[in-house]
Amino acid sequence: MKTKCLLVIAAMLVSFAASAETILITGSNRGIGLEFAKQYADKGWHVIATHRREQVPDTLAELSSEYDNLQVETLDVNNAVHLQALVARLEGMPIDVLLNNAAVMGINATGTLAEQTNENFGTLVPEHFMPYFTTNVLAPLLVSEALVENVLASDRKMILNMTSGAGSVTMGMEAFAGTGFYYKSTKAALNRNMVNLAAHLRTLDPEAITFNLAPGFTITERFEGMAEDEIGNRGTPVKDVVAGFIEVIDQATPEYSGSIYGFEGELKPF
Ligand SMILES: NC(=O)c1ccc[n+]([C@@H]2O[C@H](COP(=O)([O-])OP(=O)(O)OC[C@H]3O[C@@H](n4cnc5c(N)ncnc54)[C@H](OP(=O)(O)O)[C@@H]3O)[C@@H](O)[C@H]2O)c1
Repeated sequence: MKTKCLLVIAAMLVSFAASAETILITGSNRGIGLEFAKQYADKGWHVIATHRREQVPDTLAELSSEYDNLQVETLDVNNAVHLQALVARLEGMPIDVLLNNAAVMGINATGTLAEQTNENFGTLVPEHFMPYFTTNVLAPLLVSEALVENVLASDRKMILNMTSGAGSVTMGMEAFAGTGFYYKSTKAALNRNMVNLAAHLRTLDPEAITFNLAPGFTITERFEGMAEDEIGNRGTPVKDVVAGFIEVIDQATPEYSGSIYGFEGELKPF
């Protein structure tokens, strides 16, 4: 009798694991990516939380001790060996939502523009552009290409990228005016690649959903050292931004493909 009960419980657990929805998040050890990992883990999703550190970051170690449904994996999005190894480990596992979140942002720990990266006109250093380009433009495309079979094998079939209003090319010269050429140009390129990918994926599967998320100024731990009056009322706490995006993701249909959405479900301009 006891053995029979145990077998039934084991079968129930296997069936839960197989039926749980799965999200893979790049750059999930801090900021917006970490908050997505927390909230989806809390919802009972299978969360593949990736990071680029040599050791598992404390934030993810803590989270995985709290949630059995959180799987921590190493992925420097610019490292082809990491990516191949991850693809091999995830073979045959459907991924409902692939969230390309990792980015080089060009803002330093105090939230001011990072002159040290010299992305300002007058102090440009060509080599400093490459990490922005590889991380923010090329990597989301390569990670998507590498995991597309997992995504198309899932129920939701979603590929999402975290973009930024700073990449807008239609908002006029005053919006995000001034310096910071590398970050802005890479987010504009990310948007264009998303449109291309959306058009391609729907030829493979009309149910595929590919769009970008633009969070707006989001208050993460990165801004903790910043004075209240510097943040003003411009920013939104990361918990609210991510909770909003989870609703957007829940409502998304193939018609969302090729567009950019804010966390309140509003369409954002290119
Ligand atoms: N926060 C905002 O106000 C805001 C506004 C608009 C758009 N966004 C976008 O939202 C996303 C997340 O922003 P955030 O504020 O959470 O940024 P963040 O706090 O700087 O976190 C960035 C994450 O990306 C990871 N990362 C960077 N390069 C990587 C690489 N080569 N491989 C793997 N991971 C890498 C970082 O890992 P390490 O810890 O190892 O560096 C970190 O986990 C970004 O795409 C950003 O452009 C943010």
